[in-house]
Amino acid sequence: MRKSEIRELLKVTQDPEIISFAGGLPNPLSFPIDDLKGIVQTVLNNHGKVALQYGATHGVNELREAILERSVKEGMKGGMSMENIMITSGSQQALDAVGKIFLNPGDIAMVGLPSYLGGINAFRSYEANLIGIPLDKEGMRVDLLEEKIKELIKQDMTVKFIYTVPTFQNPAGTVMPGSRRKKLVDIAHEYNLVIVEDDPYGKLRYDIPPVKPIKAFDDEDRVIYMSTFSKILAPGFRLAWIIANEDIMRKLALCKQAQDLCTAPFSQYIAYEFIKSGLLDLHIMRICEMYKPKRDIMINAIKNYFPAGYSCNKPKGGMFAWVTLPEQIDTEAMFLDAFKEKVAYVHGKAFCVDGGGGSSMRLNFSYSTNEQLEIGVKRLGAVIERKMKVLCR
Ligand SMILES: Cc1ncc(COP(=O)(O)O)c(C=O)c1O
Repeated sequence: MRKSEIRELLKVTQDPEIISFAGGLPNPLSFPIDDLKGIVQTVLNNHGKVALQYGATHGVNELREAILERSVKEGMKGGMSMENIMITSGSQQALDAVGKIFLNPGDIAMVGLPSYLGGINAFRSYEANLIGIPLDKEGMRVDLLEEKIKELIKQDMTVKFIYTVPTFQNPAGTVMPGSRRKKLVDIAHEYNLVIVEDDPYGKLRYDIPPVKPIKAFDDEDRVIYMSTFSKILAPGFRLAWIIANEDIMRKLALCKQAQDLCTAPFSQYIAYEFIKSGLLDLHIMRICEMYKPKRDIMINAIKNYFPAGYSCNKPKGGMFAWVTLPEQIDTEAMFLDAFKEKVAYVHGKAFCVDGGGGSSMRLNFSYSTNEQLEIGVKRLGAVIERKMKVLCR
């Protein structure tokens, strides 16, 4: 296993003087603390004895039912009953469980280039062979994916699953269009593969209408879908869910029994009451209202302060901007320069299983104040400018 670079970086960014664009942290001002005071009281009054007890491995039924109802409304297909839903202690636990049940040492999982670092680390801990497929503006290049799968099959290699974050991808911010989602499901069908759809950001939409999950194209029940309350409520609850067909779910449940017996029922009842009271959807709207201007401030500041030669997406949702600088700039090496100027980011290489991404960086815009976004990008722009001057000498 390798150290998580993000965890290590987060340690150094604890210094309050550092403006950190490094973590994937929600803004603490978005936490609905006042609403939760009432909800916690309701949970203790109405469910106290069960909420404080050990719970079932699959999770609290009321919450599973509420998630089921919402997922069906979103058009998800495949087995869609309570039996197909398990509550997990964060999506990170779900990723680890997927790794544990599918991956033997040397097995192949296909991931994006770049890809979520926590997913990469979870799968690597089972000694998987991770093969990266480049992304373009519309997410994973499914044409290249198919070519690669064919090549691997010819070499008698076992591909187990395709891992993707199709909506407001972490770190690249891309959104896969419906046609590509459908094509991905067709490829999985053709080569008998499972798709692992990781969707923590789908609800954090700023400029586009709702996007159907890949699981909405899942006529064959081969998509494992996971999402989390971390970005739409608060990560401190450590609460997420996974949806899968019954065969996979049986194995996931066995795995979870060994991992932690059950996810905290207290957190689960809070989430359930939050949904039942109608607060969740209202809260998601509030988060989007808070993050959209933050996204705009960061993107405008990049335009104003970064020297020419970079490329940057304008993410339509989520929490990250992905910036690629001229290729002579090594963003890993530049991190220390930025750190001296009291601004932090995550360098692109951390997200790329092929060792690429060396001149890219991920910038989080949800956590900082609006003022910090402007100042931090300005500092970073100055660091890049100095670096470019040195390199051009
Ligand atoms: C793509 C992706 N998957 C999973 C997670 C883990 O989320 P959780 O807090 O539910 O463990 C994150 C967290 O940032 C993420 O970005």
